[in-house]
Amino acid sequence: MKAGAAGPALEIAPMRASDLAEVRRLELAALPCPWPESAMRHEVEQNPYATYFTARHAGRLLGYAGLWVQVDEMHVSMIAVLPEARRRGIAETLLVRLLREGMARGCLRATLEVRERNLAAQALYARYGFAEVGRRKRYYRDIDEDGLILTTPDFDDEAWRPRFEAQAAEALRRTGSSAAE
Ligand SMILES: CC(C)(COP(=O)(O)OP(=O)(O)OC[C@H]1O[C@@H](n2cnc3c(N)ncnc32)[C@H](O)[C@@H]1OP(=O)(O)O)[C@@H](O)C(=O)NCCC(=O)NCCS
Repeated sequence: MKAGAAGPALEIAPMRASDLAEVRRLELAALPCPWPESAMRHEVEQNPYATYFTARHAGRLLGYAGLWVQVDEMHVSMIAVLPEARRRGIAETLLVRLLREGMARGCLRATLEVRERNLAAQALYARYGFAEVGRRKRYYRDIDEDGLILTTPDFDDEAWRPRFEAQAAEALRRTGSSAAE
């Protein structure tokens, strides 16, 4: 991302099969409970409802994120950023890209599940108006952790939309990304 006026911008691009080896390394470094190795290949090559994006800085993969389109809703399936690249706005830029994608595909709102104790992700999602609408008891079986179900207001909500646009513009300024616009 932009480290200064002359620094390269964060590049957001659709994930391809050729990204998968790097994505796997990132999953292992970034996620407490990575999906099975075959899962992302299935998502990218076979799941017609899934779209994933990579975030690269100077060619290096620093993060990725994806969504599922479920009828008229988009579901954020994953966002992950390398530990050493966190708190620089990469996840936020990816989230903006996902939300734009969902809007372009005619989704009415966004939803997701997040671990009850994942306060970092919850803080990110709160910035975009995600609010708790339900809870799945012991949804994360590894440590019997509840999953919170979070949803945005409708994308055409007249209070939410201008806040989204302002926050998205700020996020893209931070990383120098233009791909999410
Ligand atoms: C959650 C995660 C994706 C955030 O990635 P990131 O690139 O560091 O996030 P960003 O830099 O875009 O953060 C944007 C905002 O989110 C909030 N946020 C992010 N991480 C936070 C943390 N550790 N503590 C508090 N707030 C946090 C802040 O408001 C932050 O803005 P700020 O830096 O201006 O304060 C990253 O920590 C990660 O990969 N975690 C493991 C995977 C995971 O939990 N994914 C979510 C699954 S639902």
